Amino acid sequence: MTASRYASLAIEADDIAAGRVEPHYVKVLTRLLAAHALAEKFTAIGYQRALETIDDARLRPRIAQNYAEERKHARLVYQLLEPLGLQEAAADRSLIAALKAPSFVAPRYFAEHAEGPLDLVMGSVSLDMTGYLMIGVNYRESSYAPHARAADLILEEEAGHEDFAASCLRDAVEWFGAERVNGALRAWLPRAVNFFGPPGSGFTFDCIRYGLKQRDNGELADLFLAMLERRVVQAGLAMPALTSGYPRTLG
Ligand SMILES: [Fe+2]
Ligand SMILES: [Fe+2]
Repeated sequence: MTASRYASLAIEADDIAAGRVEPHYVKVLTRLLAAHALAEKFTAIGYQRALETIDDARLRPRIAQNYAEERKHARLVYQLLEPLGLQEAAADRSLIAALKAPSFVAPRYFAEHAEGPLDLVMGSVSLDMTGYLMIGVNYRESSYAPHARAADLILEEEAGHEDFAASCLRDAVEWFGAERVNGALRAWLPRAVNFFGPPGSGFTFDCIRYGLKQRDNGELADLFLAMLERRVVQAGLAMPALTSGYPRTLG
């Protein structure tokens, strides 16, 4: 990928307000932030559903904490859109077509259909483990300083979510039996990996050119798969094989 024309934290909201940044940068940034905000919101809604439907005392404190933190993350990112002239409802409306894309299947499924503790574990693997990489690798170094600063705040809490996902994955075999967990992994893994978005897209090329992302979606997806595979094997589970093209499906 080409080197960025903008250094990390080079642009402030005032630079945009004063017209010192090219309009296409603002357009790409706005779309990226809208997608980030909505992913945080769907994740929050998923944890809210889990809180309403899961009684397990081993899980509830962490579910409640993640719910509160994901709401905060969504709010933080929607606030970044306001100086760019976009309120929450308009930001969400701008993504109506994108919502049907494979990259939104995992957050939407978690928010709309996830049922019970096993789906909760898989939702956390699919959204928190992945989110931790996207935010830590990509957004923390953003050329848009307000996004980089928000990413730093979010990342501190996402580290806890990531830990929760990893420890649940270890415990899941004991709680649910390997066969059920393997079945859930097969259902969730394609969604989880597609959450990174398509590799080599024009939009991501622009994001990298503008320093809004550091790495391509495909690289992050590979990092995630390598990390998850280690954890899956350690837990005595089977890592499902996937097709290589996007969207990834079971191979
Ligand atoms: Fe989050
Ligand atoms: Fe999270």
